[in-house]
Amino acid sequence: MVMFPWMCNAQCMVSKSVMKDAEKSKEQLLDELTALRQRVACLDASTPEPTHQQHGDGRWLSLQGETERVRAEIARQESERRLQTLMSNLPGMAYRCKIDADWTMEFVSKGCLPLTGYQCHELVQNRVSSYGTLIHPDDRQLVWDGVQEGVAKRQHFKLEYRIRTATGEEKWVWEQGIAIYAENGQATFLEGFITDIAERKRAEQRLEAVNAGLEQAVARAEELAVRAEAANHAKSQFLATMSHELRTPLNAIIGFSDGLLDRSDVHPLNEHQMDRIRRIKSSGEHLLSLVEGVLDISSREAGKTELDITTFAISELAGDVAAVAEELLRGNPRVRFSLDVEDNIPAIASDREKLQQILLNLLGNAVRFTEQGSVRLIVRCLREELRLTRIQFAVSDTGIGIPAEKIGELFKPFMQVNAAATPRYGGTGLGLCISNHLAVALGGSIEVASELGKGSMFTLTIDSYPPDRA
Ligand SMILES: Nc1ncnc2c1ncn2[C@@H]1O[C@H](COP(=O)(O)OP(=O)(O)OP(=O)(O)O)[C@@H](O)[C@H]1O
Ligand SMILES: [Mg+2]
Repeated sequence: MVMFPWMCNAQCMVSKSVMKDAEKSKEQLLDELTALRQRVACLDASTPEPTHQQHGDGRWLSLQGETERVRAEIARQESERRLQTLMSNLPGMAYRCKIDADWTMEFVSKGCLPLTGYQCHELVQNRVSSYGTLIHPDDRQLVWDGVQEGVAKRQHFKLEYRIRTATGEEKWVWEQGIAIYAENGQATFLEGFITDIAERKRAEQRLEAVNAGLEQAVARAEELAVRAEAANHAKSQFLATMSHELRTPLNAIIGFSDGLLDRSDVHPLNEHQMDRIRRIKSSGEHLLSLVEGVLDISSREAGKTELDITTFAISELAGDVAAVAEELLRGNPRVRFSLDVEDNIPAIASDREKLQQILLNLLGNAVRFTEQGSVRLIVRCLREELRLTRIQFAVSDTGIGIPAEKIGELFKPFMQVNAAATPRYGGTGLGLCISNHLAVALGGSIEVASELGKGSMFTLTIDSYPPDRA
């Protein structure tokens, strides 16, 4: 409860004179004050010069005493008026009551009407209603116990409870009060303040409703997340099973096709038959890489990218992938491959196999989409600090390039910029999607710059894992 400073100092006055004259109107007080001021003015006018007092004239001395008494009365009434003004401006009701079951009011301030709907005189001495009956029946015990505890401990009591106003409206109020004790130590009265907290309670209730709504939403979101997780798991499970089931016959198709082509000397086949078997084999291989790619993506989307972190030399990894690129370009003298690895790059801790998979896809693409010119792999160490080594791999080519509007879609599954040319270039459209997942799993990223008809550059940046995670 707000403790108004004036309340403590003025408690005495409230209990003695203000209570008695509680119903005296402000106008009455002002009239009395004006009369008293006039009286003082008269007395002052008739007061002789100080020299007259030196003669010890009793008449003048008695007039002076009268002046002081009147001045004291003016001061008292002014203080009383200030108190009345303060109380009538307070957003609540100051009171003094008996400690009985009715909480019989001895005095209530003007805030009584807006708070309870009763005029002050209607509540005082339970003339029309007692304050006790205004308290909500369910809260009466709470109020009684709270007050008794404060009385026993000689402390302020603070209470929140409901009242029913004269119009039947239910209202939340807040009260702070203290007992006044007689000389024998007996608590005789309560004095305090009661204010309307309906608005605060409504805000609290709204907040509680919002909180409850939020809790429900969070619970629902959690439930949906669990369901989504279960669905994802089921999907991965299904794909794993399906891919296994599909791989077995596909491998058989590829194997038998190979066998037929290899043994064409024993069982001669004409050119047409050979061509058909080659197509069966390449379609089987395409399907197999599709199945593997889909399985790879789905397991990564289900968050199943398990990393195998080891420490290795970048130059060795670059040498290995360069050898594959050179092999892919063998027999194509129009495209030159070059490898440029910065000297003294420190060994890094990462998943070597996954890094290699990304680089092979980027180099594989560069080789496939470049008919002449060059394919390059440049490796640089961007930063080397106590716990961090950042490596950049740039795969560039002078190939067909990628239209600017397609660059943002390159990492989506099954994205092939020129799908019509797929038979020419091959591929499943999953390589970059998988590479991107892998790069993210390694804590890195892939960026693309390309110009149609001129070439492309794919830049993979990764950080070495801190030694404690390696
Ligand atoms: N270096 C490049 N130059 C031109 N286009 C490219 C290059 N790299 C990728 N692309 C375009 O992006 C598409 C997607 O590449 P991505 O590696 O994901 O699939 P893909 O190579 O077609 O098939 P795969 O799944 O076998 O890798 C390619 O089909 C191609 O259109
Ligand atoms: Mg690819």
